[in-house]
Amino acid sequence: MINLFKKIAKVLLGRSVIVDIVPPIQFVGWKMATATCPPWSNGGSNALAISFTNCDTELAELIASRKVILSQFRPASVSTEVMQLRWRHYIVYWSATVASRIAGGGDKNFVEMGVCDGLTAWYASRARQALNCGGEFFLYDAWAGMRSDLLTGSEGAAVGSYSYLDIENTKRNLASCGPDKFVYIKGYIPESFSQARNPEKIAWMHIDLNSSIPTIESLKFFWDRLLPGGVILLDDFAWPGYEDTRAEVEKWCENLHLDILQFPTGQALITKQF
Ligand SMILES: C[S@@+](CC[C@H](N)C(=O)[O-])C[C@H]1O[C@@H](n2cnc3c(N)ncnc32)[C@H](O)[C@@H]1O
Repeated sequence: MINLFKKIAKVLLGRSVIVDIVPPIQFVGWKMATATCPPWSNGGSNALAISFTNCDTELAELIASRKVILSQFRPASVSTEVMQLRWRHYIVYWSATVASRIAGGGDKNFVEMGVCDGLTAWYASRARQALNCGGEFFLYDAWAGMRSDLLTGSEGAAVGSYSYLDIENTKRNLASCGPDKFVYIKGYIPESFSQARNPEKIAWMHIDLNSSIPTIESLKFFWDRLLPGGVILLDDFAWPGYEDTRAEVEKWCENLHLDILQFPTGQALITKQF
């Protein structure tokens, strides 16, 4: 059909035409639309994709039955919001799986900076548990409103954000994902680092703090503790409104000669070479 159209166009116009056929959109969400087949198509076609798809389905059911409460979203739209975050959650799950597999270092500790209701931690914990990677999962959050002295001038509008959070809700949510060894560290980053029992070695770090100062402090504090082959995933890297985070992370990476992998989701990945 397309070739027939091209031939007719050539006769009528006297020249070849380029026909750009846009295939059907497969995914829409998080300000992104893609026409490629996502990992969860038809339930997934490789072990990791299948395992992620099963987790995603289970979480959707827990949300629908209100066994997981995500207070950061309006109750009426929570299922849609989470569905639209699928590509983000697949990258979380993939990075946590890769970090769980790295050789050496004994148990693999995970850390998350910015936990909120435990949504991303839920996926990462499931990936850890699927591979029995041992260790503990340290969860850092203020579970209180964001403080002005930890925000730059351009981030100032975020002061007081997340004041509605309740750590007990996060604990209930994460209790639904299996018997992981969670360590809850409630307090403001970076000062909570000096007040808590922090892991000596880590395999995976997720940073999702919506602010550049604690993001950089987290990178500085944990870089030497990251095992070779370990993974750092940043959530806010390429989003409008988080330019300070991006600029600071890029400067920090440049000093260490680290190459950043940016995703269309706005996330970014850094690994520590063996
Ligand atoms: C975008 S939310 C995290 C979302 C979570 N990762 C998820 O996807 O489910 C940002 C979190 O960072 C926390 N936060 C922001 N600044 C902080 C700081 N300086 N110290 C500790 N927690 C902070 C907030 O309390 C909030 O829970």
